[in-house]
Parts: sequence; structure tokens; C-alpha cells
Amino acid sequence: MYSKKVVDRFSNPKNSGEMKDADAIGEEGNPRCGDVMKIYLKVENEKIIDVKFQTYGCIAAIACSDALCELAKGKTITEAKKIKSQDILNELGKLPPIKIHCSILGMEALQNVIKNYETKKAKNN
Ligand code: FES
Repeated sequence: MYSKKVVDRFSNPKNSGEMKDADAIGEEGNPRCGDVMKIYLKVENEKIIDVKFQTYGCIAAIACSDALCELAKGKTITEAKKIKSQDILNELGKLPPIKIHCSILGMEALQNVIKNYETKKAKNN
């Protein structure tokens, strides 16, 4: 069963939706289950000031997406790069073993959007 934190984040995510003026967008999917996470970043002076997600996926994938947005918000890019799937799990209490990969997908989606941000920044310099 899912923890109360997972159910709360799934039922009432704080960070879901599209970000029209995002500085970077990243997407990561798991071909086995078909879940896909799209993450939007807004960055100012190397600090993540806003994060949003659009996730097509299971309850855990949506809860993980919302939790990772919460974890990344307010962090510098360097700090956000260190966010691991375990941090997402800690934020949610726990996940059923079969759903642990949803937190890994979350971590990968965050790493992907950060990579896209850095690539874009390098091109503009
Ligand atoms: Fe695969 Fe949730 S079932 S990410």
C-alpha cells in the first residue's frame, strides 16, 4: 500500500503543470512501464527558483515527480545535481518495492533537465 504522503502528493500535487517560460525542459521515460516525466526548470543566478512537472504515469510516478520538484526548488544547480532517488523516497516515507523504480525515474528526469539547462547555458556563452 501507499503511504499517506504518497497519496497526498498524488491527490493534490503542488507542482504539476506546464511552465511557459521555463529555462530548461527535460523528459525521461521508462520503456518497461511506459511512464514519462517532463520537468520544467526556472533558474536565476544558478539557483532553481521554480520547478514544475507533467507526468504521464502511475500514482508513485506522480508523487515522486511532485516530491522531486519540492526537493529541487531553492537549491543551486550544483546542489540539485546531488539529489538521489533515496532523497525522493525519504520525502515520500516509502514506496512499495515494485515502485522503487519510479523514484529512480524521478532522479533521472531531474538530471536530464539539469543537463539540458547546462547545455543551453554553454551554447549561449
Ligand atoms: Fe514505472 Fe511508475 S510504474 S515509473
